[in-house]
Amino acid sequence: MEQYAIKGGNPLVGEVEIGGAKNAALAIVAAAVMTDETVLIENLPDVSDVNVLLEAMESAGVIINRIDRHTVKINGSQIKNLVVDNDSIKKIRASYYLLGALLGKYKKAEVALPGGCNIGSRAIDQHIKGFKALGAQVRIEHGNVCTEAQHLKGSHIFMDKVSVGATINIILAASLADGQTIIENAAKEPHVVDLANFLNSMGANIKGAGTDVIRIKGVEKLHKTEYAIIPDQIEAGTYMFAAAVTKGDVTVKNVIPKHLESITAKLLEIGCEVEESDDAVRVVASKKLEHTQVKTLPYPGFPTDMQPQITVALALADGTSTVTESIFENRFKYVDELTRMGANIKVESNTAIIEGVGKYTGAGLTAPDLRAGAALVMAGLAAEGFTTIDDIKYIERGYEDFHLKLQSLGAQIERVKSDKELQKFKLKVG
Ligand code: UD1
Repeated sequence: MEQYAIKGGNPLVGEVEIGGAKNAALAIVAAAVMTDETVLIENLPDVSDVNVLLEAMESAGVIINRIDRHTVKINGSQIKNLVVDNDSIKKIRASYYLLGALLGKYKKAEVALPGGCNIGSRAIDQHIKGFKALGAQVRIEHGNVCTEAQHLKGSHIFMDKVSVGATINIILAASLADGQTIIENAAKEPHVVDLANFLNSMGANIKGAGTDVIRIKGVEKLHKTEYAIIPDQIEAGTYMFAAAVTKGDVTVKNVIPKHLESITAKLLEIGCEVEESDDAVRVVASKKLEHTQVKTLPYPGFPTDMQPQITVALALADGTSTVTESIFENRFKYVDELTRMGANIKVESNTAIIEGVGKYTGAGLTAPDLRAGAALVMAGLAAEGFTTIDDIKYIERGYEDFHLKLQSLGAQIERVKSDKELQKFKLKVG
C-alpha cells in the first residue's frame, strides 16, 4: 500500500525546478537506437514510463548506460531481438515508438500493442496508415503489432486526425526511408519538435516540425549525438495550477514560457498573476479564482494533459465554468473523486459543468490515471483536513519526486507505505 498522505491548507510558496519532458524523452530514447553509434541524452526525467521503456530496450539488446539520474548513453548496435513484448512494455503507451524506430533502421519490428492511461480507446490506425504509406506491411497478431518492409519509400501522408504518436512514428520510420515524406495535418506539440531536432542532430533531414506540414528527406544512416531534452510543459503546468488552487506563489524554473502560453492564458483569466522571464514563470494567486470556459485542443490549444488540473481549480472558483474534452472520450473519471471532496460537477457527454464551491474537504481517494492522479493531489493540498491518494504508481509514471518537490514548496505531503506510517504522518501534522 503506497499512498500519498496529505494535510491540506498550506499555500505553496517558493521555487520548483522542472525536469525533462516525459513525452519527448520517450520518443527520443526510442529514436536513439536508430544509429549504431553511442548517443548521449541529458535532462532525462527519472520517471517510470521512461525507465520501463529503457528496460524493454535493454532486453532487446540495446546497451543502456545510465551516467547519472538524468543522463543516459544509448547504443543500439547490438540489437538482437526485434520483438519487444515483455509484460511491462504493455503498460506504457510509448512502446509504439520502437515500431517506427526499428522499422526505419531494420525494416522490421514487432512490439506489444501499446497500453498507457485508460482515458479513451486510443486507436493506432493513423500509425498503421503511415507505415503502410511508406511501403510496410502491418499485422496485429497475438497482441503484438508486427511490421515489415522490403524497403521503405517516402510518401505523401494526410493524417485524418492530429496525432502526436502517429506523427512521431512516421517521422521515425521516414527518416531512414528512400526519398521524401510529407506529413500533412501533423501534430505541432513541443515534443514533436524536440524529436525532430534530436534526429536532425543525428544527421536526419526533417523540416517544418512545429507546423502542420512536416517534410522528411530520408537519409542513409544516422550518427551519434549529444542532446538535452526540453523541459516538461505538463509538469510545469501542474505546479502552476497547484499554486492557483492553494492560493500560493510559485516560480517554476527551467521552462520554456512559450510552451506554457495556453496554460498561462487560463491562469490570467481566472484571476492569477503570471510573470514570465527567460526560463521561468511565476504564478501568484492572491484573489478568489474566477470561472471560465476551456476546451482541450491539440497544441497550441489547451492540453488535454492539463484538463484534470484546470477542473480542480475551476471547481473552487466563483460561478459556473465548463471544461470540454475534445481529445480523449473518457477523461473525466476523476470527477467522482472530486465530488467526494465536495465539488459540484456534472459531466454531460464530453463537457464538465462546474459550479464553484468554496472549498474541498479531505477524503480517501484513488488515482485513476497519471494526470488525474496529480490533479487529485492538488485538490488534497487545497482541501481542509486529510487526504490519502491510492494507486500513486500512475502519478509516478510521469512526475519525478512529486511529493518531494511539493514538500519543498511547503506542502504537507508524504509517501507512506503502511497504516503505521500514515498514523505517524497524521500525528506529525496534527
Ligand atoms: C500523446 C501523449 C499524451 C497526450 C496526447 C495528446 C505521449 C506518450 N502521450 O498521446 O500524454 O495526452 O498525446 O496530446 O506522448 N488517435 C486515433 N488514431 C491514431 C492515433 C490517435 O484515432 O492512430 C486519436 C486518439 O484516440 C485521440 C487523438 O487521436 O483521440 C489524439 O491522440 P494522440 O495525439 O495520438 O495521443 P498519443 O500520442 O497517444
